[in-house]
Amino acid sequence: MLVQGTPTRTIRPVVEGGKTWVEIIDQTRLPHAFILRRLATPEDAMEAIAVMRVRGAPLIGATAAYGMALAADRDASDAGMAQAGEGLVATRPTAVNLGWGVERMLWRLLPLPVSERSPAAWAEAATLCEEDVEQNRAIGRHGLDLIRAAWKKAARSRPVNILTHCNAGWLATVDWGTALAPVFAAHEAGVPVHVWVDETRPRNQGASLTAWELAQAGIPHTVIADNAGGHLMQHGRVDLCIVGTDRVAANGDVANKIGTYLKALAANDCGVPFYVAAPGPSIDFRLAEGRDIPIEERDAGEVARIQGLAEDGSLVSVRLVPEGSACANPAFDVTPARLVSGLITERGVCAADRAALAELFPERT
Ligand code: MRU
Repeated sequence: MLVQGTPTRTIRPVVEGGKTWVEIIDQTRLPHAFILRRLATPEDAMEAIAVMRVRGAPLIGATAAYGMALAADRDASDAGMAQAGEGLVATRPTAVNLGWGVERMLWRLLPLPVSERSPAAWAEAATLCEEDVEQNRAIGRHGLDLIRAAWKKAARSRPVNILTHCNAGWLATVDWGTALAPVFAAHEAGVPVHVWVDETRPRNQGASLTAWELAQAGIPHTVIADNAGGHLMQHGRVDLCIVGTDRVAANGDVANKIGTYLKALAANDCGVPFYVAAPGPSIDFRLAEGRDIPIEERDAGEVARIQGLAEDGSLVSVRLVPEGSACANPAFDVTPARLVSGLITERGVCAADRAALAELFPERT
């Protein structure tokens, strides 16, 4: 996607002085500063995932793959690869893409002689990233059909109002995004859209990242408090919801950013279609049901404090909660499949159930 007119991806290898680095956008600084940062070691990749300089399930998977390439540069032995893989997988538990990315690298590298592993690792990580871009582009095409249908239903008389939660835009992937890919596709196709952006406490990925992406693309949007969505849906001001996912269980239950479940409940009550954009690598056919998905518990300080831009232009963190009040920070929730109108995958839109998923991805079951 474009950042101030320049085509940009969220992650890429950079060769300099005989060494290959991994360059990322530091998402902890957006929207107030656009800072590129270099990862030189697998530990750098682990830190970037853990503190959420990179975040979003597909981008976490891509960073893990490049983390394995950095590890292969240092110690490509079986033990070196296994140790790096374990460290990467331990950073965040909910997005299945993280373990998937590491497993894929091990599957590709371990059969090779140690001397061939480093170049093969960089090549495999790059291939994984290209696949991510193509999957998301296809999700955009399939989701565009849904947006077109909503536009037709509104007699093409006004923009289609789409509500999204957290950030499942290009910043959450290598490019294009998942939930926002249909929005970008609609905008490009001349279908007028307006996006309701949930701010997404506690880390505010909606207010900070989704709003920034949409502003960069010139797409009309309005940031709302997380609690506003139900009211807007009751009053006919949302045509459809589209969210991303960190893991879809084999039965179609969906884990996504905390608060997604409440939006799905409100959408169900109001008869608003609720779609989940889910690329193949985010579907976990090994997990039977959503209740088995591990839910990340993050530092309670993320609830107690909030970060923003001070008048003098500096980034500051301020306390919201009385000293001594306990805070809890479950980072994801699970929306039962019965509340999901459909899954938008790169292979088409399907029902959120075991049979439909198995039909679309027969080689995975
Ligand atoms: O905690 P985050 O910012 O990594 O959570 C991201 C989300 O919940 C996204 O909706 C999900 O990863 C899908 S990204 C295409």
